[in-house]
Amino acid sequence: MMADIAARAGRTAPVSLRINLTLDTLAETSLMMGGKPTPFGIPAQQLPECLEWLRARPEIRLRGFHFHLLSHQLDAAAHLQLVAAYLEQARRWCDDHGLDIDHINVGGGIGINYRQPDRQFDWPAFSAGLSALLNERGMPGVAVRFEFGRYMTAACGYYAMQVIDIKRSHGKTFVVGRGGSHHFRTPYAQGHSHPFHVLPVDEWPYSFARPYAEDETVSVVGQLCTPKDVLAFDAQVESVRCNDVLVFPYAGAYAWHISHHDFLRHPHPAQWYLPVE
Ligand SMILES: Cc1ncc(COP(=O)(O)O)c(C=O)c1O
Repeated sequence: MMADIAARAGRTAPVSLRINLTLDTLAETSLMMGGKPTPFGIPAQQLPECLEWLRARPEIRLRGFHFHLLSHQLDAAAHLQLVAAYLEQARRWCDDHGLDIDHINVGGGIGINYRQPDRQFDWPAFSAGLSALLNERGMPGVAVRFEFGRYMTAACGYYAMQVIDIKRSHGKTFVVGRGGSHHFRTPYAQGHSHPFHVLPVDEWPYSFARPYAEDETVSVVGQLCTPKDVLAFDAQVESVRCNDVLVFPYAGAYAWHISHHDFLRHPHPAQWYLPVE
């Protein structure tokens, strides 16, 4: 289709081929887009056929290769090894097929450690290793591009939810918020208990005693009519009361935009964008 459009427009379309590569050394994460059968990219075995097809289509110019095999990578050494494998593979294809490319896109993939927020991906070690890797194995005239998603944006967003009830059921304590996975589906989608902070709100506008939990292990749930509406579990809290606000950090990536906003027709949350000085 692209060849037809480019030919009709009398233009050359530059393309990158996204390749689904299998690697012996690939350490799997919890979110794999490649390295095994998936709908993403061109299986590496089909590349020769694809290059042959491209050679007969001068209206399409191959600029480089694109890889994005995984997300949620928390191990800087493993990610460096992956980038090294991409570069090595791209060089081999260039040599074997006489290709002249000018960029290699190595995708995104760096994760956020939601389970242990104080132990994040070792960015300084990764950058130092990358610089050495490019010096040793970079290809002259070939730019290496990253397209980070989660790592760039997760820390930019917070989800705040007012506590509307604290319930005890069969030995467990549930903190119920005015919100849930229809706003913030990240924890359920990734199967983790999301870290949160309790923002105390002293105002209590009702005549009945304020429900609270102190020094307890709680689950934080939303308002939906499904037991899957869980944002945090086995979370130890010093103190949480109805009307306090729970603030979930790392809500800037794959959060609102992957949520089923209109389930049960609850209102959407207010969204504020704050300028950074
Ligand atoms: C092609 C491609 N590149 C980059 C990303 C960003 O990935 P991440 O959030 O793991 O950095 C995605 C996310 O799905 C993607 O599909």
